[in-house]
Amino acid sequence: MKVLVTGGTGYIGSHTCVSLLNSGSDVVIADNLSNSRLEVLNRIEKITGKKPVFYKTDLRDKTELYKIFEKENIDSVIHFAALKTIPDSIAHPLEYYENNVAGTMNICHAMKEYNVKKIVLSSSAAVYGLTDNNPIKETAPLFPYNPYGRTKMIQEYIVSDFAKSEKAGAVILRYFNPIGAHESGLIGEDPMGTPSNLMPYISQVASGRLEKLFVFGNDYNTPDGTGVRDYIHVCDLAEGHIKALEKLDIIKDKVLTVNLGSGHGYSVLEIIKSFEKASGIKINYEIAPRREGDVGTCFADITLAQKEIGWKAKRNIEKMCLDEWTWQKLNPKGYEY
Ligand SMILES: NC(=O)c1ccc[n+]([C@@H]2O[C@H](COP(=O)([O-])OP(=O)(O)OC[C@H]3O[C@@H](n4cnc5c(N)ncnc54)[C@H](O)[C@@H]3O)[C@@H](O)[C@H]2O)c1
Repeated sequence: MKVLVTGGTGYIGSHTCVSLLNSGSDVVIADNLSNSRLEVLNRIEKITGKKPVFYKTDLRDKTELYKIFEKENIDSVIHFAALKTIPDSIAHPLEYYENNVAGTMNICHAMKEYNVKKIVLSSSAAVYGLTDNNPIKETAPLFPYNPYGRTKMIQEYIVSDFAKSEKAGAVILRYFNPIGAHESGLIGEDPMGTPSNLMPYISQVASGRLEKLFVFGNDYNTPDGTGVRDYIHVCDLAEGHIKALEKLDIIKDKVLTVNLGSGHGYSVLEIIKSFEKASGIKINYEIAPRREGDVGTCFADITLAQKEIGWKAKRNIEKMCLDEWTWQKLNPKGYEY
């Protein structure tokens, strides 16, 4: 099976490419490297012994995208490529709509043109917005509260409408908070600039790259007052994509939407403690006021993922922190050095 992985040199994409190659699929990556580096391909090869075919392509360029489909005989698509930083999306909404929405439109056009009938889409818990109704089920109303979340919701509509009209199959995966790295420490999250997510921030404080972590709010209605989120090991998430592809062979022309999370909520202070234990390093942090738009608690109902795609996260929070720290320790400045 030949899988086109858009955004395959990115954080989740690279881990999924490893899982795909290890499970015997051929992998073709299309990525414009706007938030990733070519070195990722060497690292994937080191882990799997196989190098994916790579195209430096921007999905907004339909002509270039069609050339890949023309040449590669693609069986299915996993569509990761997107811009993903919430504050950035508030500052530059048009860029986000253009990139995430136009990219998805072009993927669907190309699939239609080349008769490709299987797609897995990366969506996000951000589509649920500010709900406090935990655990969050897939049937919860969609109220994304920032441009990023709205682009994810629009991507979902495009893909499911396309699938229905073309008799294609689609699995839409709503990720909660992926963290950690491949246990080899060869691939991991390499944010460009200051990280906006908790885990890369903590690990950069641990390695001395950043001075201090700010914990936004300790007066939420949670056991220790800090925000509670559902964290999931990126390798568990990657394996969820393999299960989703397998499911596409069964559902054929249906659309299925599932949450991928651990189903557990961990507070910011719990994550800090676990990371300290894994790394042996004390994390310098300071409590700061709540951030606008944050909820106290958010975690996934994972019943459907288990039932529909036979998937459940296996790695616990200790493993997430340990693998994150191994990656950070071996690559203190990311892929560049
Ligand atoms: N990381 C998270 O916390 C998280 C949570 C929920 C959902 N997601 C979704 O998962 C997907 C992957 O996220 P990630 O964390 O791996 O991000 P990432 O930035 O590491 O990877 C995305 C990749 O897509 C590429 N890309 C972006 N726009 C492109 C375009 N127009 N053409 C070609 N390539 C393009 C980037 O260069 C990058 O390599 C995204 O769709 C994101 O919205 C991520």
